Amino acid sequence: MSSTVTAIDFENKPAEVLLVGFGAVGIIYAYLLESKKLARVTCLARAKKYIRLQERGIDIHSKKWGVITGWRPHRVVQSLEEVLDSSFDYCIVSTKAVPEVLTTPALLGPLLTDRYHHPQPAYVLLQNGLGVEADLYSALKGRYDEPTVISCALYIMTNVTAEGNVSHGTFERILVGIYKEDPSIPDSPAQEQAMHTLVKLVTKSGSEASVTPNIAADKFRKNLWNASVGMISSLLGLSPSECACDENALDTAMAIVHEMMTELMVVARAIGYDESLIPSNTPDSIVMETRTKLRGTDFVPSALLDVRLGIPFELEVILGYPLREAQARQLSTPVCISTLILIPGS
Ligand SMILES: *[C@@H]1O[C@H](CO)[C@@H](O)[C@H](O)[C@H]1NC(C)=O
Ligand SMILES: *[C@@H]1O[C@H](CO)[C@@H](O)[C@H](O)[C@H]1NC(C)=O
Ligand SMILES: *[C@@H]1O[C@H](CO)[C@@H](O)[C@H](O)[C@H]1NC(C)=O
Repeated sequence: MSSTVTAIDFENKPAEVLLVGFGAVGIIYAYLLESKKLARVTCLARAKKYIRLQERGIDIHSKKWGVITGWRPHRVVQSLEEVLDSSFDYCIVSTKAVPEVLTTPALLGPLLTDRYHHPQPAYVLLQNGLGVEADLYSALKGRYDEPTVISCALYIMTNVTAEGNVSHGTFERILVGIYKEDPSIPDSPAQEQAMHTLVKLVTKSGSEASVTPNIAADKFRKNLWNASVGMISSLLGLSPSECACDENALDTAMAIVHEMMTELMVVARAIGYDESLIPSNTPDSIVMETRTKLRGTDFVPSALLDVRLGIPFELEVILGYPLREAQARQLSTPVCISTLILIPGS
């Protein structure tokens, strides 16, 4: 069966969206897409969140939207078996990408089998980290015509608090592009349409989204922050603002962070991301922003929250992947490798 999204006129009939990954990012986007009734979101929520939704819904504490209490999506399911008779325009995957624990094709299970009779939706990977699209793309490619896998660089500050509330900062923004094994192949009309419709859906819902000509480079650039600041935070057990309480500690941490990004910039250039895609001053500006903007905030990188909770985090897709790219090109990245080895849980 071909994987095409037919023109979606979501202003007359809401887009049908399946959300797999009911964490903070997924909840924020489900809320957002439903807020202007432009989409109907079916959420897969496992036991704990399912019960929470039945009992009282989710409270969202957002610096952008204020406090929303008792929010519930259009439909909630506990297993993808329950959606085999439903058709979707988009399937948003917003789980944490930890392929060592669960691959995306395994996560999507029944949707990728003959038991799912509807056309394949366009997949939107709302995830941090690099190389997160590859396993899904190959699984789809093996079974269907050219799949639509939309890759995103994600800028958002949000997390689920201990009480099960969702905390959200002042903004959320995505850059999107079509994932392809060979980036030189042009997007198909179906892929273009799915991507541009998604951007319209998100922007008309009151958020920011734009199409970028080189999503792989944009994800690499975004990942510089996660791979350095995020991983060093996890290693030290301190959020950037906690670290900023001690000027010496902050200087040391920022020197390491800068060195990691400098190593990764060499990898970026070797891959072919030139100055126009990732400017050479990116490490300087990331250090500068981290020093100024995060001081005094309660922002905690999600990897550090995971370390504190003792659950697997996105080490592999954030740091492991670019280091394999380095290795394949015989580039040396000593500070990044030391960080990878020292990080708890690695
Ligand atoms: C979580 O939500 C509940 C219900 O709205 C509220 O009583 C509680 O204070 C919230 N917790 C935080 C940390 O915002
Ligand atoms: C994330 O989690 C921490 C600790 O639970 C909390 O203090 C903070 O406000 C949360 N929100 C964001 C946007 O990081
Ligand atoms: C990656 O960066 C985003 C900021 O856009 C942050 O919210 C998230 O917590 C980071 N993830 C990790 C694993 O540190």
